[in-house]
Amino acid sequence: MTTSKTQKKDKWTMQNLPQGKDATKVARDFAKELLDIAKKNPVVKPGRKKIKRKHAHLLGFIQHGVNSHATGMWRNHRDKRGWKFSEPEYWVHMARTMERGMFDAMFIADELAPYNNYKQSSDDTVRYAVQCPVHEPATIVPIIGHATKHLGVGVTLSTAFVHPYAMCRHLSSLDHLTKGRVAWNIVSSYSKSEWDAYGAEMSDRSLRYERMEEYMELCYQLWNSWEEDSVIADRESGIYADPDKVHEIDFKGKFFNCKGRHFCFRSPQVSPVLWQAGSSPRGRDFAAKHAEAIFAVHPNVERMAEYRDDLNERCYTKFKREANSVKRIYGLQTIVAPTRAEAEEKYERIMSHIPLEGALAWISGHFGPDFSTYDLDEVVQNIEIPGIQGLFESIIFAKGGGPVTVKEAALIYAQGMGMPRAIGSPADVVDQMEVFMDSGADGFMLVATGTPGCFEDFADLVTPEMQKRGLLRTEYRGKTLRENLLDDGD
Ligand SMILES: Cc1cc2nc3c(=O)[nH]c(=O)nc-3n(C[C@H](O)[C@H](O)[C@H](O)COP(=O)(O)O)c2cc1C
Repeated sequence: MTTSKTQKKDKWTMQNLPQGKDATKVARDFAKELLDIAKKNPVVKPGRKKIKRKHAHLLGFIQHGVNSHATGMWRNHRDKRGWKFSEPEYWVHMARTMERGMFDAMFIADELAPYNNYKQSSDDTVRYAVQCPVHEPATIVPIIGHATKHLGVGVTLSTAFVHPYAMCRHLSSLDHLTKGRVAWNIVSSYSKSEWDAYGAEMSDRSLRYERMEEYMELCYQLWNSWEEDSVIADRESGIYADPDKVHEIDFKGKFFNCKGRHFCFRSPQVSPVLWQAGSSPRGRDFAAKHAEAIFAVHPNVERMAEYRDDLNERCYTKFKREANSVKRIYGLQTIVAPTRAEAEEKYERIMSHIPLEGALAWISGHFGPDFSTYDLDEVVQNIEIPGIQGLFESIIFAKGGGPVTVKEAALIYAQGMGMPRAIGSPADVVDQMEVFMDSGADGFMLVATGTPGCFEDFADLVTPEMQKRGLLRTEYRGKTLRENLLDDGD
């Protein structure tokens, strides 16, 4: 019997993973399949109403690392060409490009250590640059702030191993240095590799949230402890600040104690814009209580709308906050070119860079199970996931709700963390953004495909199309990130 190409493709197993050119072909073929599925089930339906919409908020989602959220991105011929991610010039260019594109902020994701659970090792994480190397995120914040006038910077800093006193001092300093343009993505470290690296026993989700609640309570006290007029700076009398207006904190909690005054004077935003991405019921409650903006990934419009309603309900019934008082920023990957055909070709090329083994290492890291122990054709809907639930759902629905195999899940996820994709001409992309806005998106977290090229493309092609339709600011009206984030246009 002769072995046909299709039979050969079906033969891939964990013991016989496609490598090199074979892996490229597997990923490219799957890209074509996903494009076909998307064409049969378009997000933008004919006869859509033209209505006036508010402005969208845009965030550029990246890491202080080589790869960000697309495994294999560094292989893209347009990725970091002439740039080094480890040097300031690159961040200056990235920041100015996003500001040119009228983004609200650059948003820096982070983990504290390389994933280590695929084959119980971090070898493939290192080998395939699976979010590795990743440098410390806050170090680039002042560079970005100094290179721009308006762009905000969201920074992910984990509460897991830092006392709230140190965290508040760090963030107040950054808020001063950016002149009020910093946001904090509050995370508690969901991956065991992070706890291993810090030599600690990982605590469970509910304990992590309980601890984070107390963490925030102390942070609020510290940030608000310098009253607005506490700094007098009177050279004649020699009095710099009024101690009656700089309140000493005396906090005794289950997890933290703190006695002392906050070391930074009141910063332009007082506290950073509070950002969150928890997706479990407990995570949603945390966001409904504390967050000013939330980052969520939803695979389709039904789930986007469901999420909007759920978050509004939690805000109102549990915390007496107005509906829509938390900005919902939904993940999106845009692949844009002057024509649809060029954009599709670009998408296939981008997908073809994914190394399947690296993709498996990534889903193992984010979702918990060691996927090397599963068959490539096992249906992921049958596998229990202890890791980031919210992101796993984006995979489950990526093929319209049909079964998704381990191999497919890895490839879907590796190209942009499972975010929905808008592929096409500028008009195609903005049409799709409008549909998502009608389903609850206040804005978009744009995941990179190859930097800085993808953000240059966005600023050159998508920004003008959005502005033409009245969907994006033409100037920044606020001084701080919070003011710009709250400005939805007239
Ligand atoms: C879209 C999205 C982005 C996230 N980005 C990060 C990140 O950069 N760093 C991090 O440590 N956790 C990140 N997380 C994890 C969440 O902050 C949260 O800790 C995790 O989802 C577990 O909480 P949950 O069970 O409530 O979802 C992200 C989660 C989502 C859904």
